Formats: sequence, structure tokens, C-alpha cells
Amino acid sequence: MPYSTITGIGHYVPENVVTNHDLTKVMETSDEWIRERSGIEERRYITRGKETTTSLAVEASLKAIADAGIDKDDIDFIIFATLSPDYYFPGAGVLLQRELGIAGTEIAALDIRAQCSGFVYGLATADNFIKAGTYKKILLVGAEVHSVGLDFTTRGRGVSVLFGDGAGAVIVEATEDKDKAVLATSMHSDGTYAEKLAYMYPGAHGGYFLEKYGIEDFDVDYDLENNEYGGVFWNQDMLDKARVFPHMEGQTVFKMAVKKFPEVIMETLAKAGMGIEDLDMLIPHQANLRINQFVQKLLRLPDEKVHNNIQKYGNTTAATIPICLNEAWQEGKVKKGDTVVLAAFGAGFTWAAAVIKWGKD
Ligand code: UT7
Repeated sequence: MPYSTITGIGHYVPENVVTNHDLTKVMETSDEWIRERSGIEERRYITRGKETTTSLAVEASLKAIADAGIDKDDIDFIIFATLSPDYYFPGAGVLLQRELGIAGTEIAALDIRAQCSGFVYGLATADNFIKAGTYKKILLVGAEVHSVGLDFTTRGRGVSVLFGDGAGAVIVEATEDKDKAVLATSMHSDGTYAEKLAYMYPGAHGGYFLEKYGIEDFDVDYDLENNEYGGVFWNQDMLDKARVFPHMEGQTVFKMAVKKFPEVIMETLAKAGMGIEDLDMLIPHQANLRINQFVQKLLRLPDEKVHNNIQKYGNTTAATIPICLNEAWQEGKVKKGDTVVLAAFGAGFTWAAAVIKWGKD
């Protein structure tokens, strides 16, 4: 059975830099609050109408394809992890296939809906398809455009200051060489917490789960009788009540994240027959520098074994890990033969990790 290995990697972030000071012009917030609570100093936003989630993914993918030294027509499967697709449907995978000019290959394109854990879920999926012998050259992308869907009034400041736009991509190929392979992956979820970090409107639920689980303050008026065939998925009241924005109970997310990160890291290292002492570099999801510092301390890892870049990009959800991994490699912090651990936690809740032997010079 072959192993899978990352043969190419690339990332792309839009040119527009938005600093914490810039955000103070549109809402009541401060550079101090954002830095202290999250570590973020600036983030990137797309140029509206000119860039999209898919277009960021194209840039990252082309770099990964070039880095792998393959022809884009040789890609036999696309996995696209995002919570901010350009269309509600079809998924971003088929748009990426078209924009890369490889729609004629008719290869399958799969969208992954696992939010912050999407890239690691995608890597686990790619790894298993490679091991099964189904595919040989998989393009895996994590890309997000948050900046067009956030509440930039003071009401939304608890969420909007945290997120940024960006994309990262890898090419995953088969190898017989265990010294450059994905050694183990783990994926988990607990839907009990679905609404603790969620974008609930528009949607098909019609208030059902909110009533069932006693979730207050997110009500929307549904005129069900007069709108027998419509008005549930989307209606004017969602806009009037400003429900069409992400909602997060930050402290609940924080507490679960600092519990699940160490658990899934240790679980996945154990699957690979390793312990924390074997880890050369931890690439954690970039949701909050404080979460990552907490986890680092708990695992007793020195600074040189953890790479963070949330300061520059904010939380780019499914894109944080490939962007962070690529930067760490480009900066020489990840070297050939290193044991690298990728770990993520986010909405769902979902969490996941991967242990890989880095195989690139
Ligand atoms: O990738 C997805 C996973 N997401 C996460 O992992 C996020 C996890 N959670 C967090 O990172 C933190 O909970 C936050 C950074 C989101 C918030 O930090 P916190 O220390 O939990 O703050 P808080 O939500 O308890 O808010 C504290 C205060 C509140 O004011 P009062 O009620 O104490 O007067 C907020 O209204 O800070 C206020 N606040 C702000 N003030 C200035 C909230 N957002 C802002 C803001 N600027 N942007």
C-alpha cells in the first residue's frame, strides 16, 4: 500500500492590508484589545468584485502545482475546504476546476465543510484515497473570503476583527517512501456545539433547531402560512434583524479548543508510534495566538517548535494551516525529514490532526 506525501505547496493572500487601526475607523474597537485578546495585528481583504474564494485558490494552486513540478492536467482529484464558497451551490471545487482550465479532464471535485478543520480533514481524505490507490495526484486547497460576510458595525466586533482572507494549497501524491509520508491522521466532531460558532441564516432550518435547543436571541419571523413555498431559506426579516452574520460564543470555543488541541495532537502522534519528543514543528490552526500559546505551554514545546502567523493574516479558517506550513518551510523552520504536526479546531465543533514527515528540501 502506498503512502501519501506532499510534493508541492503554495499560498496566496490578497494585497489589501487592513490593520487594527483601520478597523477602529468603522467600529468601536482598539488595536490594544485585538492584539491582547487574539495576537492579530493585521489581516488581508480581497478587492471586492475582482477577487473571490476561488480566485485566491487558483493563485495558491498554481504555485503548488509549479512547486510539485507536475502538469495541471495530471491532477486526478480536487478537494476544496472552505466555509465561504463563492456560491451556496455548486461547490467551490468545480469552480476551481474550471478556473484552472482543467474542466475538460472531468475529474471529481469534492468540497469539504469542516470549517477550521477543513484542510486537515482534506489531508486525511486525500491520504486515504491515495492509500486505496484511487487517485495519484490530488490538489487539496483551503481558501476563504471572510471580508464580504462580516458585520463591520460595533455589534459584530467580537467576530469581525478576527478573520481574514487567504488561500493555501498542496499537491498530495503517492510514495513508497515512509520517510516523507503522511504517517497518521485523526478527525473528530461533536455536533452538540453546532450553534456556538455558526452562520445560521440563510438556511433550511426555519428556526427548528433554535427552538429545539432553546437558543435565544436568534429568532427570525417566518411567515409560514403565507409563504408555503418560500420565505424559509431566506427572508427579509433575516436582513432586518441582522442575522446574516457569523455568530460565535468565543469563550466556549476557546475552552474547548485548548482541551481538544492537545488531545488530538497526542492521539495522532501515538497512532504514528511517536510521542511529543518526536515532534519537530507544530503548525496549529491560527484562530487565536492565546489558544496556541496555551497549547504550547501545556505540551511543553519550545518557541522554535511552534509556528504562528496570525499576527499578519488573522484567522483564515481552512487556509491557516497550508499558509502557515508554507511560510515555515520557506523560512527554513521546517526541514526535510522533520516530523511536522498539523492541528486544527473550529466550528462544528470539529477538530483534527495529522503527523507528517516533511519530504521536501
Ligand atoms: O477558528 C474558529 C475558532 N475560533 C476561536 O477559536 C475563537 C475562540 N475565542 C476567542 O478567541 C476569544 O474568546 C475572543 C478573542 C473571541 C474574545 O476574547 P474574550 O477574552 O473571550 O472576550 P469576550 O468575548 O469575553 O469580550 C470581553 C469584552 C466584552 O465587553 P464587556 O461585556 O466585558 O463590557 C466585549 O463586548 O470585550 C468586548 N469586545 C470588544 N472590545 C473591543 C468584544 N469584541 C471587541 C472588540 N473590540 N473587537
